[in-house]
Order: sequence, then structure tokens, then C-alpha cells
Amino acid sequence: MSKVVLINGDGIGQEVIPAARAVLTVLNLPLEFLEAEAGFGTFEKTGNALPLETLEMCESSDAVLFGATGSPMVKVEGYQSPILTLRRHFDLFANLRPALLPHQGIDMLIVRENTEGLYSRRERVEDNGQTAIAERVITARASERIVRVACEQAMQRRKKLTLVHKANVLKETCGLFRQIGWEIVKDFPELEVDEVLVDAAAMFMVENPGRFDVMVTTNLFGDILSDLAAGLTGGLGIAPSANVGAKKPAVFEPVHGSAPDIAGRGVADPRAAILSAAMMLDFLGHMTAAETIRRITYATSHTGDTTRTTYTIIQQLEQQYVR
Ligand code: IPM
Ligand code: MN
Repeated sequence: MSKVVLINGDGIGQEVIPAARAVLTVLNLPLEFLEAEAGFGTFEKTGNALPLETLEMCESSDAVLFGATGSPMVKVEGYQSPILTLRRHFDLFANLRPALLPHQGIDMLIVRENTEGLYSRRERVEDNGQTAIAERVITARASERIVRVACEQAMQRRKKLTLVHKANVLKETCGLFRQIGWEIVKDFPELEVDEVLVDAAAMFMVENPGRFDVMVTTNLFGDILSDLAAGLTGGLGIAPSANVGAKKPAVFEPVHGSAPDIAGRGVADPRAAILSAAMMLDFLGHMTAAETIRRITYATSHTGDTTRTTYTIIQQLEQQYVR
């Protein structure tokens, strides 16, 4: 029996995680679901966006399925994004973000470093508020482990890896990432490896997305390029992700946010959360179930009704899934 913590969070997280749960439930797998709270709503109620109780439930779980939480544009005293806290707390250093659109020849995986870079939280203001500085931290250790994960992923796929950086300008930070990258790939002689500057990578992704298999990059570049990849392959409604570390739990979440503009109307696309649940099933060792969910979900379109899309997927699963 695997323990799965479900965190709806805010906005459409409240709609898409229950949808994913309904899909998982029809499979009758040995999963135990526990519900926990986090997010901006929780922060307003309790003063803590990720209560200790939630964190402890996650600590004793195998996997977490996370919806989305509101992230304010301005500093709110005491508020920290729960997903960032979870990534840091469990050292979930690899963020895997697949983007698939087979009939256009797009099948790529962005492997995003998830613990440092411009997400180091080392931001400060100087000069009476006239200068703001963010420190971009790149370490050999984090670069090495993320490139290794990317190589392992590429070995399972089309054996192509692209190192994405901006070493022509960021000579120290991206320079280190690049140098470590080229060292690590030597351990994977079967891979075809190249490197592309991040700005050019954005252009190639639009112009010739089929050229990419696995792309590995630092935190913020990966954040941006994964939204671009989602945009190329049907939008955020269908973009899943996995946050994994060296040990359990791993955290699975749709790439999209809490979408307050459409929340509460029953129109959110549940497929990104359902595909994230499929990534979770892979992680928990239920590969056949995961693959069946993926096949059905990619073949189902979202017509603007969360319940209907979910029900269509469930019906297909009931017909096609054989244990
Ligand atoms: C993502 C999100 C998060 C990030 C936000 C919500 C903190 O955009 O998972 O891509 O920037 O990593
Ligand atoms: Mn993002």
C-alpha cells in the first residue's frame, strides 16, 4: 500500500485534484489517500501556507499530488509558496516536465534544476530601495545531480540531450553548469549531446521543436521554457510535472497555477492534474496503469467542463484498463 497525500491548494486546485483522485480511484490500486491543506487560503486562515500537520503527513507518505496555490506578486509578510517549501524541504532537486504532441513530432522532456539558481531566495534591496539584487547560486553538486538525472532520462528515450544555458554572458554561474554538464555526459557515451543558449533554445522550440528530446537547464530557465513547451503542445491544461529527489516522497503537480480567473466555475482542464497522477503512478511502480491513463488522457479533448472531461476519461479507463 502506498500513501498518497492530496493537496488541493487554492483556486482550480480544488477542482482538478479531486478529478485526478476520481480517476485514480477507478483503477483500484493499492493506494491510500490522505487529504491535507496548504496554500494562500490556508495562510489567511492559520498564518501558515504549509501547516506543520501537512508537512508531517507528507513526510510519512510515498507521494504527494499537489494542485496549485496562489502566489502573490508582492511580498506578503510570513507567506512562502508551499510548492517551493516542499521542493526545498524534501530536496526535490529534479523537476521533470514532459511536453508531448505526437502528430507534430513534439516529444520533449525538460529537466529543470529545482533547488537553486535564481530561486536561491538571496534577494536584497540596497541604496534606499533604489537597487534590488538577486543572487543566482549555481553549485557543482546540484549541477552534477541534475545533469545525471537528465542523462538517465535520455537513455530511456531517444538518447538525445541538450544542455541549455547562457554561458556566453553568465560566465561564472552558467559557465559552471556547462562545464559540469559536459563532464557528466562523458559517463553516458551512448547519448548524443549538444548545447544551446537559452534564448536560441526558445526560438528552436518554436521553429523546430522536433529537434529536442531531453533538455536540461537551471531553475528559472526551466520554469520559463516549460511554460513555452506547454504552450506549444496544447497549453497549460495538459502539462504535468514531477518533483523528485533521492528519496520519498516525490511531489507531482500540474504546471499550471491556481487560475483565480476561472476558479469555482467547473471549467478547469483536469488533464494536467490527471497526467501528473500518471507520473506519480510510474514513480510508485504502476507503469501499466500510468501508460493507460496517458494514452486515454492525451486522446481526450477538454470541452470546458471539468466533470465531463473527467467522466469521459473514467469511462474509457473502465473499458480499457485490465489489471
Ligand atoms: C512552477 C510555478 C512555480 C515556480 C511558482 C508557483 C512558485 O511557476 O511550478 O513552474 O516558479 O516554480
Ligand atoms: Mn512555472
